[in-house]
Amino acid sequence: MLEDLDQIHRSALAEATSIPDETALEEFRVRYLGKKGSLTAAAARMKDLAPADRPLFGQKLNEVRAAITAALEDRSSALMAAKDAQAAQGIDPTLPARPLHRGSLHPLSQVLDRAVDTLRRMGFALAEGPEVETEWHCFDALNTPPDHPARKESDTYYFPNGKLLRTHTSSVQIRTMESASSVPVRIIAPGTAFRRDEIDETHSISFTQLEGLYVDRDVSLADLKGTLEAFFQVIFGAGTEIRFRPHFFPFTEPSFEIDVKLRTVGRAERWVEIAGCGLVDPAVFAAVTKCRKDDLFHPDLVTGFAFGMGVDRLAMIQYGIPDLRLFNENDVRFLRQFV
Ligand code: DAH
Repeated sequence: MLEDLDQIHRSALAEATSIPDETALEEFRVRYLGKKGSLTAAAARMKDLAPADRPLFGQKLNEVRAAITAALEDRSSALMAAKDAQAAQGIDPTLPARPLHRGSLHPLSQVLDRAVDTLRRMGFALAEGPEVETEWHCFDALNTPPDHPARKESDTYYFPNGKLLRTHTSSVQIRTMESASSVPVRIIAPGTAFRRDEIDETHSISFTQLEGLYVDRDVSLADLKGTLEAFFQVIFGAGTEIRFRPHFFPFTEPSFEIDVKLRTVGRAERWVEIAGCGLVDPAVFAAVTKCRKDDLFHPDLVTGFAFGMGVDRLAMIQYGIPDLRLFNENDVRFLRQFV
C-alpha cells in the first residue's frame, strides 16, 4: 500500500511539469486530489491496514498530498507568468507614465469646508433642510409679515402648489427647532438659496449661504460677538478687524450687519459687508412653540443668536475675485488657480 502512494507521487510529479493550460491543471487536480481522485481512493483504503501500520501510512499520505499540492501551485504560477509575459510583449515598461490630471475642489467648496470646519470646532453641529420650502418655514415662522417685499413673486420663485425655493437658509433654524429634543441647540446649516434677481457681478439667482443658530437658557449679545469675531479671525487671519452695524431683520432683535475691514494690495482699505446676525426675536420662539405644542423653546425660557452669511461673498473677499459669475462658469483657466 505504501508502494501505491509512491507510485501516485511519482506519476503526479512527472505529469505536473508538462500540464499545458489551466483546464488541464484543474483536470489534474480532480484526478489526484478530487473526491474520486486516486489519492483520495488510496486514503480510503487505510481502514484495511493493521492499526499498527496506520500512522506510517497516514504520514506518508500527508506528505504525498502536500507534494502534489505544491507541484500544482508551482505549475499554476508558471502558467500565469507565461501568460503575463505574452501579454506584455511589445510593451515597453520603461516608458514614463502619462501624467494624471488631478482634479481639485472648487474654490467655493474650499471656503465652505474651512468655514464649516472652524465652526464645528467651536461646537456647532451640521444641520440641513429642504431647498423647496413652505412659506411658513421660510417667512411666517421667521416673523416676516405677509406684505414683506422679500415675499413678492418678483423676488421669490413660487411653485403652483404654494411652496417656494428658499430665499435663505434661515428656514433651517425653524426646521431644527421643530425637531430638537433638548436645548442647547448649536447648529450650522450650509446650503443653496434662491432669489429672483438680475444676474450681474454681485448678484446670482442661486448662491451658497451658511446659517448659524445657538439657543440656550442665557445666550447674550456678548456670546454672539465673541463667537463671530473668533470665527472671522480664523477665516481672514489674526488681527482682522470686524464691526457690527445696527440693522433690521424680521427674525432677530437687535439685528446687525457685520463688516470686515478689507486690505487688498494696491487698493485703499475698505469695510465690506459679510454677514447678518442678531439675537433671535422672541416672536420666532413663539412660532416654534405654537407648532411644537411644548415649552422647550418658550420665549420666556430661552434666548439665542443667529447669523447668516454668503459663502460666495466670503470667497470673493478671500481670493479677491471681482465677479460672482466666475464661480458658476466652470472655466478651468479660472478654477485651476485654486488648486
Ligand atoms: N437670512 C438673511 C439673508 O438671507 C441673513 C441673516 C441675517 C441670517 C440675520 C440670520 C440672521 O440668521 O440672524 O440675508
